[in-house]
Amino acid sequence: MKVLIVGSGGREHAIAYSVSLSDKVDKIYCAPGNAGISEYAECVAISAMEFDKLVDFSVENQIDLVIVGMDDPLVGGLVDELEAAGIRAFGPRKNAAILEGSKAFSKDLMKKYNIPTAGYENFDNPEAALDYLETAKFPIVLKADGLALGKGVLICSTLEEAKEGVKTIMLDKQFGDSGNAMVIEEFMTGREVSVLSFVDGKTIKTMTSAQDHKRAKDGDQGLNTGGMGTFSPSPFYTKEVEDFCNKYVYQATVDAMRAEGREFKGIIFFGLMLTSEGPKVLEYNARFGDPEAQVVLPRMKNDIIEVVEACIDGTLDQIDLQFEDNAAVCVVLASDGYPVAYEKGIPITGFEEFKKHEGYYCFHAGTKFDGDQIVTNGGRVLGITAKGKDLKEARKNAYAATEWIQFANKYMRNDIGKAIDEA
Ligand code: AMP
Ligand code: GLY
Repeated sequence: MKVLIVGSGGREHAIAYSVSLSDKVDKIYCAPGNAGISEYAECVAISAMEFDKLVDFSVENQIDLVIVGMDDPLVGGLVDELEAAGIRAFGPRKNAAILEGSKAFSKDLMKKYNIPTAGYENFDNPEAALDYLETAKFPIVLKADGLALGKGVLICSTLEEAKEGVKTIMLDKQFGDSGNAMVIEEFMTGREVSVLSFVDGKTIKTMTSAQDHKRAKDGDQGLNTGGMGTFSPSPFYTKEVEDFCNKYVYQATVDAMRAEGREFKGIIFFGLMLTSEGPKVLEYNARFGDPEAQVVLPRMKNDIIEVVEACIDGTLDQIDLQFEDNAAVCVVLASDGYPVAYEKGIPITGFEEFKKHEGYYCFHAGTKFDGDQIVTNGGRVLGITAKGKDLKEARKNAYAATEWIQFANKYMRNDIGKAIDEA
Protein backbone atom coordinates (compact mmCIF):
# COMPACT_ATOMS: atom_id res chain seq x y z
CA MET A 1 0.00 0.00 0.00
CA LYS A 2 0.92 3.66 -0.37
CA VAL A 3 1.17 5.76 2.78
CA LEU A 4 1.39 9.54 3.14
CA ILE A 5 2.74 10.97 6.41
CA VAL A 6 1.91 14.61 7.16
CA GLY A 7 4.53 16.58 9.09
CA SER A 8 8.23 17.40 9.08
CA GLY A 9 9.74 16.84 12.52
CA GLY A 10 11.56 14.18 14.48
CA ARG A 11 8.21 12.62 15.37
CA GLU A 12 7.32 12.19 11.70
CA HIS A 13 10.79 10.72 11.07
CA ALA A 14 10.14 8.15 13.82
CA ILE A 15 6.71 7.41 12.30
CA ALA A 16 8.26 7.06 8.81
CA TYR A 17 10.89 4.71 10.21
CA SER A 18 8.20 2.51 11.82
CA VAL A 19 6.07 2.54 8.66
CA SER A 20 9.14 1.54 6.61
CA LEU A 21 9.38 -1.67 8.67
CA SER A 22 5.87 -2.80 7.64
CA ASP A 23 5.58 -5.54 5.01
CA LYS A 24 2.27 -4.04 3.95
CA VAL A 25 3.84 -0.83 2.66
CA ASP A 26 5.29 -0.41 -0.84
CA LYS A 27 5.71 3.33 -0.98
CA ILE A 28 5.91 6.15 1.58
CA TYR A 29 5.41 9.85 0.90
CA CYS A 30 5.88 12.61 3.43
CA ALA A 31 4.53 16.15 3.20
CA PRO A 32 6.65 18.19 3.62
CA GLY A 33 9.20 15.88 5.33
CA ASN A 34 12.88 16.68 5.90
CA ALA A 35 16.34 15.47 4.86
CA GLY A 36 16.28 12.42 7.15
CA ILE A 37 12.76 11.35 6.27
CA SER A 38 13.78 11.26 2.60
CA GLU A 39 15.73 8.08 3.36
CA TYR A 40 12.39 6.24 3.69
CA ALA A 41 9.93 8.47 1.95
CA GLU A 42 9.53 10.63 -1.12
CA CYS A 43 9.17 14.13 0.32
CA VAL A 44 6.49 16.26 -1.29
CA ALA A 45 6.64 20.07 -1.08
CA ILE A 46 3.20 20.59 0.47
CA SER A 47 2.90 22.05 3.95
CA ALA A 48 0.77 20.38 6.61
CA MET A 49 -1.85 23.15 6.50
CA GLU A 50 -2.41 23.10 2.71
CA PHE A 51 -5.46 20.85 3.00
CA ASP A 52 -6.66 21.17 -0.61
CA LYS A 53 -3.25 20.27 -1.96
CA LEU A 54 -2.91 17.33 0.44
CA VAL A 55 -6.34 16.01 -0.58
CA ASP A 56 -5.58 16.43 -4.30
CA PHE A 57 -2.20 14.76 -3.92
CA SER A 58 -3.76 11.82 -2.05
CA VAL A 59 -6.48 11.34 -4.66
CA GLU A 60 -4.13 11.69 -7.66
CA ASN A 61 -1.56 9.31 -6.19
CA GLN A 62 -4.14 6.80 -4.90
CA ILE A 63 -2.85 7.00 -1.35
CA ASP A 64 -4.25 4.12 0.74
CA LEU A 65 -3.58 5.66 4.14
CA VAL A 66 -2.67 9.11 5.43
CA ILE A 67 -1.05 9.39 8.88
CA VAL A 68 -1.31 12.91 10.29
CA GLY A 69 1.55 13.50 12.73
CA MET A 70 1.00 17.12 13.75
CA ASP A 71 -1.55 18.87 15.94
CA ASP A 72 -2.46 21.89 13.77
CA PRO A 73 -3.83 19.96 10.78
CA LEU A 74 -5.73 17.58 13.11
CA VAL A 75 -7.33 20.44 15.02
CA GLY A 76 -8.04 22.18 11.70
CA GLY A 77 -9.94 19.17 10.33
CA LEU A 78 -7.58 17.60 7.79
CA VAL A 79 -8.85 14.10 8.59
CA ASP A 80 -12.46 15.16 7.83
CA GLU A 81 -11.40 16.62 4.47
CA LEU A 82 -9.44 13.53 3.49
CA GLU A 83 -12.34 11.27 4.46
CA ALA A 84 -14.77 13.41 2.48
CA ALA A 85 -12.60 12.71 -0.57
CA GLY A 86 -12.68 8.96 0.16
CA ILE A 87 -9.16 8.74 1.59
CA ARG A 88 -8.48 6.65 4.72
CA ALA A 89 -6.80 8.78 7.34
CA PHE A 90 -5.39 8.11 10.80
CA GLY A 91 -6.03 10.72 13.46
CA PRO A 92 -9.05 12.26 15.18
CA ARG A 93 -11.66 14.20 13.23
CA LYS A 94 -11.97 17.89 14.00
CA ASN A 95 -14.74 17.39 16.56
CA ALA A 96 -12.49 15.02 18.52
CA ALA A 97 -9.14 16.78 18.02
CA ILE A 98 -10.64 19.56 20.16
CA LEU A 99 -9.41 17.40 23.06
CA GLU A 100 -6.03 19.01 22.32
CA GLY A 101 -7.28 22.08 20.45
CA SER A 102 -9.12 23.64 23.39
CA LYS A 103 -7.82 23.40 26.93
CA ALA A 104 -11.11 24.86 28.19
CA PHE A 105 -12.97 22.00 26.47
CA SER A 106 -10.65 19.35 27.90
CA LYS A 107 -10.90 20.77 31.43
CA ASP A 108 -14.70 20.84 31.26
CA LEU A 109 -14.71 17.28 29.93
CA MET A 110 -12.56 16.08 32.82
CA LYS A 111 -14.72 17.87 35.34
CA LYS A 112 -17.96 16.51 33.89
CA TYR A 113 -16.66 12.93 33.82
CA ASN A 114 -14.68 13.00 37.09
CA ILE A 115 -11.29 12.49 35.49
CA PRO A 116 -8.62 13.68 37.96
CA THR A 117 -7.04 17.01 37.00
CA ALA A 118 -6.04 20.32 38.62
CA GLY A 119 -8.86 22.60 39.84
CA TYR A 120 -9.53 25.44 37.34
CA GLU A 121 -11.77 28.15 35.93
CA ASN A 122 -12.24 29.07 32.25
CA PHE A 123 -12.35 32.69 31.10
CA ASP A 124 -13.21 34.35 27.82
CA ASN A 125 -12.85 37.88 29.10
CA PRO A 126 -9.75 39.39 30.67
CA GLU A 127 -11.56 41.48 33.32
CA ALA A 128 -13.18 38.41 34.83
CA ALA A 129 -9.79 36.65 34.81
CA LEU A 130 -8.16 39.60 36.61
CA ASP A 131 -10.94 39.70 39.22
CA TYR A 132 -10.56 35.99 39.87
CA LEU A 133 -6.81 36.37 40.44
CA GLU A 134 -7.38 38.87 43.27
CA THR A 135 -8.49 36.06 45.61
CA ALA A 136 -6.47 33.19 44.10
CA LYS A 137 -3.64 31.16 45.65
CA PHE A 138 -0.12 31.42 44.19
CA PRO A 139 1.75 30.04 42.34
CA ILE A 140 -0.98 29.67 39.74
CA VAL A 141 -1.02 28.43 36.14
CA LEU A 142 -2.36 30.38 33.15
CA LYS A 143 -3.02 28.54 29.90
CA ALA A 144 -4.01 29.93 26.53
CA ASP A 145 -7.03 27.90 25.40
CA GLY A 146 -5.80 26.98 21.92
CA LEU A 147 -2.66 25.58 20.29
CA ALA A 148 0.43 27.67 21.03
CA LEU A 149 3.40 25.50 20.01
CA GLY A 150 3.66 24.27 23.60
CA LYS A 151 4.37 27.83 24.78
CA GLY A 152 0.96 29.03 25.96
CA VAL A 153 1.42 27.95 29.59
CA LEU A 154 2.60 30.50 32.16
CA ILE A 155 3.41 29.56 35.74
CA CYS A 156 3.05 32.71 37.85
CA SER A 157 4.41 33.05 41.39
CA THR A 158 2.74 36.36 42.30
CA LEU A 159 -0.42 38.31 41.61
CA GLU A 160 1.63 40.88 39.66
CA GLU A 161 3.10 38.20 37.40
CA ALA A 162 -0.30 36.62 36.86
CA LYS A 163 -1.88 39.95 35.92
CA GLU A 164 0.94 40.46 33.43
CA GLY A 165 0.24 36.92 32.16
CA VAL A 166 -3.44 37.66 31.52
CA LYS A 167 -2.31 40.68 29.52
CA THR A 168 0.23 38.62 27.55
CA ILE A 169 -2.30 35.91 26.68
CA MET A 170 -5.63 37.73 26.31
CA LEU A 171 -4.82 41.37 25.50
CA ASP A 172 -1.43 41.41 23.75
CA LYS A 173 -2.39 38.09 22.12
CA GLN A 174 1.18 36.87 22.20
CA PHE A 175 -0.09 33.39 21.28
CA GLY A 176 -2.52 34.72 18.69
CA ASP A 177 -6.14 33.60 18.68
CA SER A 178 -5.30 30.73 21.03
CA GLY A 179 -5.53 33.44 23.70
CA ASN A 180 -9.16 34.32 22.95
CA ALA A 181 -9.98 32.22 25.97
CA MET A 182 -7.90 31.07 28.90
CA VAL A 183 -7.78 28.47 31.65
CA ILE A 184 -6.52 29.45 35.09
CA GLU A 185 -5.63 26.39 37.10
CA GLU A 186 -4.19 25.25 40.38
CA PHE A 187 -0.41 24.70 40.47
CA MET A 188 0.54 21.08 41.04
CA THR A 189 3.86 19.50 41.93
CA GLY A 190 5.15 16.04 41.14
CA ARG A 191 6.86 14.01 38.47
CA GLU A 192 5.55 14.23 34.92
CA VAL A 193 4.94 11.17 32.78
CA SER A 194 3.79 10.97 29.16
CA VAL A 195 1.58 8.03 28.24
CA LEU A 196 0.66 7.68 24.57
CA SER A 197 -2.17 5.42 23.48
CA PHE A 198 -3.89 4.04 20.41
CA VAL A 199 -7.65 4.57 20.38
CA ASP A 200 -10.31 3.18 17.99
CA GLY A 201 -13.31 5.12 19.26
CA LYS A 202 -14.13 2.68 22.05
CA THR A 203 -11.04 0.61 22.89
CA ILE A 204 -7.80 2.14 24.16
CA LYS A 205 -4.37 0.47 24.28
CA THR A 206 -1.65 2.39 26.05
CA MET A 207 1.95 2.32 24.88
CA THR A 208 5.03 2.16 27.07
CA SER A 209 5.55 5.31 29.18
CA ALA A 210 8.04 8.12 28.57
CA GLN A 211 9.24 11.36 30.07
CA ASP A 212 10.05 14.59 28.29
CA HIS A 213 12.46 17.40 29.30
CA LYS A 214 10.82 20.63 28.18
CA ARG A 215 13.25 23.27 29.46
CA ALA A 216 16.20 24.42 27.38
CA LYS A 217 18.92 24.13 30.01
CA ASP A 218 20.35 21.54 32.39
CA GLY A 219 18.60 21.18 35.73
CA ASP A 220 15.25 22.12 34.10
CA GLN A 221 16.30 25.75 33.83
CA GLY A 222 15.74 28.17 30.98
CA LEU A 223 12.84 28.60 28.60
CA ASN A 224 10.28 26.01 27.62
CA THR A 225 11.05 24.30 24.32
CA GLY A 226 9.35 21.73 22.13
CA GLY A 227 11.33 19.11 24.12
CA MET A 228 15.09 18.62 24.61
CA GLY A 229 15.06 14.89 25.19
CA THR A 230 13.09 11.91 26.42
CA PHE A 231 13.47 8.53 28.01
CA SER A 232 11.28 5.45 28.01
CA PRO A 233 10.00 3.74 30.06
CA SER A 234 9.55 6.04 33.06
CA PRO A 235 10.62 4.28 36.28
CA PHE A 236 8.07 6.46 38.10
CA TYR A 237 5.18 5.00 36.11
CA THR A 238 4.65 2.12 38.53
CA LYS A 239 2.06 -0.65 38.36
CA GLU A 240 0.08 1.26 40.98
CA VAL A 241 0.02 4.43 38.86
CA GLU A 242 -0.89 2.43 35.78
CA ASP A 243 -3.74 0.64 37.58
CA PHE A 244 -5.08 3.98 38.84
CA CYS A 245 -5.00 5.51 35.36
CA ASN A 246 -6.59 2.42 33.81
CA LYS A 247 -9.41 2.80 36.29
CA TYR A 248 -9.93 6.58 36.33
CA VAL A 249 -8.23 8.18 33.32
CA TYR A 250 -7.70 6.24 30.09
CA GLN A 251 -10.96 4.43 29.34
CA ALA A 252 -12.85 7.21 31.11
CA THR A 253 -11.51 9.73 28.58
CA VAL A 254 -12.41 7.59 25.58
CA ASP A 255 -15.89 6.91 26.98
CA ALA A 256 -16.37 10.61 27.75
CA MET A 257 -15.53 11.59 24.17
CA ARG A 258 -18.00 9.00 22.85
CA ALA A 259 -20.69 10.17 25.23
CA GLU A 260 -20.19 13.72 23.93
CA GLY A 261 -20.70 12.53 20.34
CA ARG A 262 -17.00 13.12 19.61
CA GLU A 263 -15.73 9.59 19.02
CA PHE A 264 -11.92 9.70 19.18
CA LYS A 265 -9.86 7.59 16.78
CA GLY A 266 -6.11 8.07 16.71
CA ILE A 267 -3.52 8.77 19.36
CA ILE A 268 -4.35 10.21 22.77
CA PHE A 269 -1.27 11.48 24.58
CA PHE A 270 -1.89 11.78 28.33
CA GLY A 271 0.39 14.29 30.04
CA LEU A 272 0.20 13.14 33.66
CA MET A 273 1.51 14.60 36.88
CA LEU A 274 2.09 12.18 39.74
CA THR A 275 0.98 14.33 42.67
CA SER A 276 0.84 13.43 46.35
CA GLU A 277 -2.94 13.03 45.87
CA GLY A 278 -2.43 10.59 43.00
CA PRO A 279 -1.98 10.94 39.23
CA LYS A 280 -3.72 13.90 37.57
CA VAL A 281 -4.06 14.86 33.91
CA LEU A 282 -1.97 17.94 33.00
CA GLU A 283 -3.01 17.95 29.38
CA TYR A 284 -4.23 15.87 26.48
CA ASN A 285 -2.65 15.83 23.04
CA ALA A 286 -4.28 14.26 20.02
CA ARG A 287 -1.10 12.93 18.40
CA PHE A 288 2.23 11.27 19.13
CA GLY A 289 4.57 13.34 21.32
CA ASP A 290 7.70 14.87 19.94
CA PRO A 291 10.27 13.70 21.12
CA GLU A 292 8.28 10.95 22.91
CA ALA A 293 7.67 9.11 19.59
CA GLN A 294 11.45 8.89 19.15
CA VAL A 295 11.80 6.66 22.25
CA VAL A 296 8.45 4.86 22.15
CA LEU A 297 8.18 3.76 18.49
CA PRO A 298 11.64 2.16 18.23
CA ARG A 299 10.60 -0.08 21.16
CA MET A 300 7.25 -1.13 19.65
CA LYS A 301 7.14 -4.74 18.44
CA ASN A 302 3.92 -4.50 16.40
CA ASP A 303 3.58 -3.58 12.75
CA ILE A 304 2.45 0.04 13.09
CA ILE A 305 0.22 -0.21 10.02
CA GLU A 306 -1.72 -3.11 11.55
CA VAL A 307 -2.33 -1.08 14.71
CA VAL A 308 -3.27 2.08 12.82
CA GLU A 309 -5.71 0.19 10.58
CA ALA A 310 -7.27 -1.45 13.64
CA CYS A 311 -7.86 2.03 15.10
CA ILE A 312 -9.58 3.19 11.92
CA ASP A 313 -11.63 -0.01 11.61
CA GLY A 314 -12.63 -0.18 15.28
CA THR A 315 -10.88 -3.53 15.86
CA LEU A 316 -8.16 -2.45 18.27
CA ASP A 317 -9.47 -4.98 20.83
CA GLN A 318 -7.94 -7.68 18.61
CA ILE A 319 -4.44 -6.20 18.72
CA ASP A 320 -1.90 -7.40 21.28
CA LEU A 321 0.22 -4.27 21.65
CA GLN A 322 3.77 -5.14 22.70
CA PHE A 323 6.94 -3.29 23.53
CA GLU A 324 10.50 -4.53 23.91
CA ASP A 325 11.66 -5.16 27.46
CA ASN A 326 14.46 -2.61 27.24
CA ALA A 327 14.83 1.17 27.37
CA ALA A 328 15.54 4.07 25.05
CA VAL A 329 16.87 7.59 25.52
CA CYS A 330 16.64 10.46 23.01
CA VAL A 331 18.92 13.49 23.29
CA VAL A 332 17.95 16.44 21.10
CA LEU A 333 20.77 18.23 19.30
CA ALA A 334 19.64 21.82 18.90
CA SER A 335 21.04 24.99 17.36
CA ASP A 336 22.71 27.07 20.07
CA GLY A 337 20.32 29.88 21.04
CA TYR A 338 17.13 27.79 20.61
CA PRO A 339 14.30 28.52 21.45
CA VAL A 340 15.00 32.22 20.89
CA ALA A 341 17.43 33.07 18.07
CA TYR A 342 19.83 30.77 16.24
CA GLU A 343 21.64 30.34 12.95
CA LYS A 344 20.49 27.91 10.27
CA GLY A 345 22.06 26.42 7.14
CA ILE A 346 25.08 24.93 8.95
CA PRO A 347 26.56 21.69 7.51
CA ILE A 348 26.13 18.53 9.62
CA THR A 349 28.52 15.53 9.49
CA GLY A 350 28.68 12.09 11.06
CA PHE A 351 25.43 10.44 9.92
CA GLU A 352 27.23 7.35 8.54
CA GLU A 353 28.03 6.07 12.07
CA PHE A 354 24.34 5.30 12.65
CA LYS A 355 24.38 2.80 9.78
CA LYS A 356 27.12 0.84 11.53
CA HIS A 357 25.37 0.44 14.89
CA GLU A 358 22.15 -1.40 15.61
CA GLY A 359 19.78 0.15 18.16
CA TYR A 360 20.93 3.70 17.39
CA TYR A 361 18.76 6.20 15.50
CA CYS A 362 19.33 9.70 14.20
CA PHE A 363 15.87 11.26 13.81
CA HIS A 364 15.89 14.51 11.88
CA ALA A 365 13.82 17.42 13.20
CA GLY A 366 15.13 20.53 11.47
CA THR A 367 17.36 19.58 8.54
CA LYS A 368 17.35 20.02 4.78
CA PHE A 369 19.51 19.31 1.77
CA ASP A 370 21.72 22.05 0.41
CA GLY A 371 22.86 20.28 -2.76
CA ASP A 372 24.23 16.95 -1.48
CA GLN A 373 25.03 18.34 1.95
CA ILE A 374 22.61 18.06 4.88
CA VAL A 375 22.41 21.36 6.77
CA THR A 376 20.59 22.60 9.89
CA ASN A 377 17.15 24.07 9.26
CA GLY A 378 15.58 24.66 12.66
CA GLY A 379 16.00 25.05 16.41
CA ARG A 380 15.72 21.37 17.15
CA VAL A 381 17.98 19.74 14.56
CA LEU A 382 18.29 16.02 15.39
CA GLY A 383 17.02 13.56 17.98
CA ILE A 384 19.71 11.02 18.83
CA THR A 385 18.04 7.89 20.17
CA ALA A 386 19.74 4.80 21.52
CA LYS A 387 18.40 1.67 23.12
CA GLY A 388 19.98 -0.23 25.99
CA LYS A 389 19.07 -3.14 28.23
CA ASP A 390 18.04 -0.58 30.86
CA LEU A 391 17.74 3.20 31.14
CA LYS A 392 21.30 3.71 32.34
CA GLU A 393 22.76 1.81 29.42
CA ALA A 394 20.44 3.55 26.96
CA ARG A 395 21.48 6.95 28.29
CA LYS A 396 25.19 6.06 28.05
CA ASN A 397 24.67 4.86 24.48
CA ALA A 398 22.64 7.93 23.44
CA TYR A 399 25.23 10.36 24.80
CA ALA A 400 28.05 8.39 23.11
CA ALA A 401 26.15 8.70 19.81
CA THR A 402 25.74 12.47 20.20
CA GLU A 403 29.54 12.62 19.72
CA TRP A 404 29.25 11.12 16.23
CA ILE A 405 27.42 14.18 14.93
CA GLN A 406 29.12 17.50 14.39
CA PHE A 407 27.81 20.92 13.42
CA ALA A 408 29.23 24.30 14.36
CA ASN A 409 26.48 25.49 16.73
CA LYS A 410 25.50 22.11 18.22
CA TYR A 411 23.80 22.45 21.63
CA MET A 412 22.31 19.79 23.90
CA ARG A 413 21.34 19.21 27.48
CA ASN A 414 23.73 16.98 29.39
CA ASP A 415 21.24 15.69 31.94
CA ILE A 416 18.58 13.95 29.87
CA GLY A 417 17.39 11.00 31.93
CA LYS A 418 19.26 12.07 35.04
CA ALA A 419 16.10 11.43 37.05
CA ILE A 420 16.70 7.74 36.34
CA ASP A 421 19.39 7.80 39.06
CA GLU A 422 16.78 8.85 41.63
CA ALA A 423 14.37 6.06 40.80
P1 AMP B 1 0.82 21.69 29.18
O1 AMP B 1 1.08 22.22 27.79
O2 AMP B 1 -0.55 21.94 29.68
O3 AMP B 1 1.32 20.29 29.40
O4 AMP B 1 1.83 22.53 30.09
C1 AMP B 1 3.21 22.59 29.82
C2 AMP B 1 3.99 22.34 31.07
O5 AMP B 1 3.65 23.27 32.08
C3 AMP B 1 3.71 20.97 31.68
O6 AMP B 1 4.47 19.97 31.12
C4 AMP B 1 4.05 21.24 33.14
O7 AMP B 1 5.46 21.14 33.33
C5 AMP B 1 3.64 22.66 33.35
N1 AMP B 1 2.28 22.71 33.91
C6 AMP B 1 1.12 22.73 33.23
N2 AMP B 1 0.06 22.75 34.06
C7 AMP B 1 0.56 22.74 35.30
C8 AMP B 1 -0.01 22.77 36.61
N3 AMP B 1 -1.33 22.82 36.79
N4 AMP B 1 0.82 22.75 37.67
C9 AMP B 1 2.16 22.72 37.50
N5 AMP B 1 2.76 22.70 36.31
C10 AMP B 1 1.99 22.72 35.22
N1 GLY C 1 6.78 16.50 23.99
C1 GLY C 1 5.57 17.11 24.26
C2 GLY C 1 4.65 17.19 23.13
O1 GLY C 1 4.85 16.55 22.11
O2 GLY C 1 3.66 17.88 23.24
